[in-house]
Amino acid sequence: MIETILPAGVSCGEAREDLLDADLFPAEAAMVARALDRRRREFTTGRACARTALSGLGLPGVPILADSRGAPQWPTGVVGSITHCTGYRGAAVARTTEIRAVGVDAEPNEPLPGDVLDAICTADERARLPGLAAERPGICWDRLLFSAKESAFKAWYPITHRRLGLVCADVTIGAADGKFRARLRPAASALRNPLASLTGRWQVCDALILTAIAEPVADR
Ligand SMILES: CC(C)(COP(=O)(O)OP(=O)(O)OC[C@H]1O[C@@H](n2cnc3c(N)ncnc32)[C@H](O)[C@@H]1OP(=O)(O)O)[C@@H](O)C(=O)NCCC(=O)NCCS
Repeated sequence: MIETILPAGVSCGEAREDLLDADLFPAEAAMVARALDRRRREFTTGRACARTALSGLGLPGVPILADSRGAPQWPTGVVGSITHCTGYRGAAVARTTEIRAVGVDAEPNEPLPGDVLDAICTADERARLPGLAAERPGICWDRLLFSAKESAFKAWYPITHRRLGLVCADVTIGAADGKFRARLRPAASALRNPLASLTGRWQVCDALILTAIAEPVADR
């Protein structure tokens, strides 16, 4: 599913159910040793998807540890991203010679709960939602906006090692072309080695919202 919204050069692994016989490396197992069973299963399946994705690049399965903020630590020369939500686990990886940043996110195609929308979007972003709903009913555009922001953060963080804040990017979504753009606000884009804007694609199928960003290296 997610490979359809990612460019050539990005390799993916996906699962719709937990892979109960998947193995973790000891260092990975230690990361979830005290976690609840549900978390252990999603983590394990996410790692299995990541190794499937790595094998698509011709790379061996290696432990994928995490930094202090949870970002997966890929082998040298690789960028990637992992996501999981109910009914979906996925990972996407690429070589740094082709792709500078990857971010993927999966969400249920359901409205955001409670007042989450207020916390994650700007007034401009909120004002655009009714127009999107009028153009393409049946899609929970608030959730898609949230997912686009999560993908943007996952692509952005490994480059900057900074938190972004959900209102630090202005995300515009194309209802017709299946694309979105996250423009980083000045406070974020002024950081060292910035990505001033990130372009991604979205897809809704099987009650899932998928968003994905793969930012090509600058000189390609
Ligand atoms: C970390 C975060 C991105 C996870 O997203 P989520 O939708 O809750 O959960 P998902 O299942 O889709 O993704 C979880 C995976 O994200 C990855 N992840 C966690 N922290 C990360 C980080 N700092 N950078 C990149 N990827 C990260 C991990 O691989 C994790 O799975 P794992 O722990 O099993 O390896 C989210 O909780 C968060 O902190 N968002 C920040 C929001 C923000 O500032 N957005 C900016 C908008 S422009």
